[in-house]
Amino acid sequence: MEYINIALAKGRLARETIDLLSEVGIQFNGWSEKSRKLIFEEAEHKLKIVLVKANDVPTYVEKGAADVGIVGKDTLLEKAADVYEIMDLGFGKCKFAVAGLNQVHLASYHKLTVATKYPNVAKDHFYKKGIAVDTIYLNGSVELAPLMGLSDVIVDIVETGRTLKENGLKVIEDITDISAKLIVNKASFKTKSERIHQLVNDMRNVLAAKGEGERAGTYQS
Ligand code: PRP
Repeated sequence: MEYINIALAKGRLARETIDLLSEVGIQFNGWSEKSRKLIFEEAEHKLKIVLVKANDVPTYVEKGAADVGIVGKDTLLEKAADVYEIMDLGFGKCKFAVAGLNQVHLASYHKLTVATKYPNVAKDHFYKKGIAVDTIYLNGSVELAPLMGLSDVIVDIVETGRTLKENGLKVIEDITDISAKLIVNKASFKTKSERIHQLVNDMRNVLAAKGEGERAGTYQS
């Protein structure tokens, strides 16, 4: 039997997924957050998890290097990938928001400068509102941009809201809710159909029993 490879976004989503798999009865015994290993195997069910950067999860799955991926909707919205988005996992919940120093009237800007790690999400949001923007790509600490005069506002992820608060910024408007998604390679969905369906249904049932994720019955195999 061939292995099913699952690409996980390193960090919290990987931890939550490994916990969920353990509740399904799949234990990655060698896994530890402190380990520098990037691949872990579970021989009984022939599953492998590979730990990659969030942005690379869709790439691994689209190219078929991984059959399945677990990644935030934020990553999928920013970087379109030719994969099947199968299931909402109900964890990794946060939102995209526009934030700034004050409750500014966004439409009053001739051209709004937006700092973000998510330029496509930002452009799409403001395009739909008919507001002209210049986006400035930043790799992180995006909240600094309005404080340093680099941008008028930011588009970023808000989870607890602490980073905004501790830097004196406020949410101006929400864009969309985000949570973790399970994605599947299109060819694997056919060639390893039975085992992927089984895995998805087992995960869905555990989540449904906890009142998380999608309601049972949303996904039909
Ligand atoms: C993310 C995001 C915000 C913060 C939001 O940053 O870009 O800065 O988390 O979380 P909060 O609402 O709970 O404060 P991340 O931790 O990934 O670091 P980064 O600034 O390097 O991107």
